[in-house]
Amino acid sequence: MAKIAICGYGVVGSGVAEVIAENAESIARNAAEEVEIKYILDRRDFPGDAFEKHIVHDFSIIADDPEVSIVVETMGGVGAAYEFTRQSLLAGKSVVTSNKELVAKKGHELIAIAKEKNVNYLFEASVGGGIPIIRPITQCLSANKLDSVYGILNGTTNYILTEMIENGASFDDALHQAQANGFAEADPTADIEGLDAARKICILADLCFGKHVEPADIKAQGISGVSSADVEYAKRLGCKIKLLGRALRTGHDTATAYVAPHLVSTSSLLSNVDGVMNGIVVHGNALGNAMFYGAGAGKRPTASAVVADIIDAAKHRNARKYLDWDDAPAGYFTDSSYVPSRWYVRAQTSLQQIGWAFGKVNFISYPGAAEDEYAFATDVYDENALLKLTGGMNVRSMFRILD
Ligand code: HSE
Repeated sequence: MAKIAICGYGVVGSGVAEVIAENAESIARNAAEEVEIKYILDRRDFPGDAFEKHIVHDFSIIADDPEVSIVVETMGGVGAAYEFTRQSLLAGKSVVTSNKELVAKKGHELIAIAKEKNVNYLFEASVGGGIPIIRPITQCLSANKLDSVYGILNGTTNYILTEMIENGASFDDALHQAQANGFAEADPTADIEGLDAARKICILADLCFGKHVEPADIKAQGISGVSSADVEYAKRLGCKIKLLGRALRTGHDTATAYVAPHLVSTSSLLSNVDGVMNGIVVHGNALGNAMFYGAGAGKRPTASAVVADIIDAAKHRNARKYLDWDDAPAGYFTDSSYVPSRWYVRAQTSLQQIGWAFGKVNFISYPGAAEDEYAFATDVYDENALLKLTGGMNVRSMFRILD
């Protein structure tokens, strides 16, 4: 019998308890032993809840109980979640988490403690919600040299953009809907401004390229600057606007990562990743491209990945899983501004100025477009070059086009 404790009984934590209760039989078969929830740690009481009797308010009860072999951290943040994870690992308990902020910021350190204590720190649910992506990268694709990974990594912003593109919804209505469905972070600014996606692309870059990336180094641009005019212009270019996280090797021993809205061709698979779904493309030198698609947020999809990690931790008590990456040498992480791409630009300027700066461009328009602006697609430039060329223009939007 594997006895577990869940720290944090919010959307994901309660989903974990629900899935464990509902699928007890198949989980026991897959784990080769029964999985029992002994404690649930939360500040709140849950009168009438099926797990009411398991609620505790003091973490030391869990840390001090040798019967608990697996701790599930679904609290979020890097305060108490970090401390409880450390203490659990140091006490010889495996830890399973959906906490991307903690994995991106402290994963390297926590994995080292897990190694020392011969236990596991597993975080499949930290990227892509219910989509299997950590194991495919670290196991199924391990024969490859991986050179790029990119995709739609945030369900909330994808839901908002889809509602704006497909149903003409307002930003605020779509956000409220995402919050009501339990997709959004406690503070949705992390979703909207691209920080959540930055944490996820950070973890993917760590695992794909094998060297540590500091989440603070990743430039994140969210979707608050995407307007319905941008959505319309993008349509005329045969594209949809998607918030992408992207990490790529930029040289022999250098790499970069960033998050930004992109124009994605409607002929690509990624452009059809709509609503709360996530889609992640990994490129390896032996495989070529592989795309992973599925529910990127929400109670049960995320619980699906967490519970699979619990099963894995139960099965690997004496055989560690190797999820790890190295320290990065100085100069490893390069500035994403130097990544070249074609660009969509919307600006208040003159035809003459556009001609002087860019020569020939591909102009875009739609019925009802504002009369005081031009929108166009450029050739390939890096961001610094583009900023110089648009220097004299009143730029309203400027997004990369994914080719
Ligand atoms: N707020 C996150 C999202 C939850 O919307 O994708 C899943 O990580």
